[in-house]
Amino acid sequence: MLILGVESSCDETAVALVEDGRRVRANVIASQHELHEEYAGVVPEIASRAHAQRILPVLRRALDDSGAKLADIDAIAVGHRPGLIGSLLVGVAAAKALAWSLDKPLIGIDHLHAHLYAPFLAPDPPAPDDTHPALGLVVSGGHTALYRIDAPLDVTRLGATIDDAVGEAFDKVAAILELGHPGGPRIDTLATDGDDHAHDFPVSLLDKDSLDFSFSGLKTSVLYTVRGNPTARHSKNAFRRTAAELSEKEKADVAASFQRAAVTALTKKITRALDQWQTDPPRALIVGGGVSANSLLRHEAADLCRRTGLACLLPPMDLCLDNAAMIAGLAHHRATSRDFDDLSLEAAPAGIDA
Ligand code: KG4
Ligand code: ZN
Repeated sequence: MLILGVESSCDETAVALVEDGRRVRANVIASQHELHEEYAGVVPEIASRAHAQRILPVLRRALDDSGAKLADIDAIAVGHRPGLIGSLLVGVAAAKALAWSLDKPLIGIDHLHAHLYAPFLAPDPPAPDDTHPALGLVVSGGHTALYRIDAPLDVTRLGATIDDAVGEAFDKVAAILELGHPGGPRIDTLATDGDDHAHDFPVSLLDKDSLDFSFSGLKTSVLYTVRGNPTARHSKNAFRRTAAELSEKEKADVAASFQRAAVTALTKKITRALDQWQTDPPRALIVGGGVSANSLLRHEAADLCRRTGLACLLPPMDLCLDNAAMIAGLAHHRATSRDFDDLSLEAAPAGIDA
């Protein structure tokens, strides 16, 4: 079964073709990073206009790469939640137009659940049936959450961030260090030259049993370390210094210490979730979302799995960030049970669990 997937929830316009929920036949991603760089974050209006301009060329390219014809496609899938509403609308409209004009079934997919499917698109992954139940962790620019996964489409949220997402914290710390956008990969690279014990940044664990996350205190602690304590409120000149006054080594020390604190907050919550697990023990840890590209998180997750005997399922590097292959891959599991949506499918800013 061949599924065409569309993804446009944030600042990547993507189309992919995936066969049988396993084999990626085409995976085209047009990133908009250069359009948002000068604003140090994604500007929703710029993002939705760029999606509208790029969706058709991206679709054509994906079809060319796959060698498939429109007639060969069995269903059209689209990430329809959560995300920026103007961006989602472009992908949903494109998917509906394809489904209607080709008379093919339509499948709306939750973007966060799709991130948890990305590891199953690696060249040689275990079958989903061999890895469930699993503990899932989504770490992206907009979300940070833990899940119990009983099947690719049977996903229950256990906890989520109460303030910033971990990817957002990486991006904000990169902005404080004046590294540019998106910040996650730049912090990751810079951290390799730093001492991760140079600063003792806070690792917020919340209440004793909580599986929620909080990253805003960590971000503020980095801000005050780099720029000094504020001398006034609501003033542009509230801080004593800027990152420009730090040496490269000092910046690298901040990046490494921040990254250690952020990843420790994630691994401690994974351990807590495993300790609290009820019935039918987990067989795997599944991680997805942009921050699953982070080298320290990948190392620590693999290490934790070795110690606990879990299978460690991480996405291949090219499927950590937003892509449409994960949308088409997960949609296969609905298509096999003929669980389709109709053309009234709506884009929604919140996730299915929110
Ligand atoms: O999943 P994603 O592409 O978009 C959302 O659904 O939000 O995640 C993007 C996030 C950004 O915050 C980016 O800085 C972060 O993933 N990211 C990283 C790395 N690569 C991307 N964060 C830490 N280390 C990385 N290597
Ligand atoms: Zn994402």
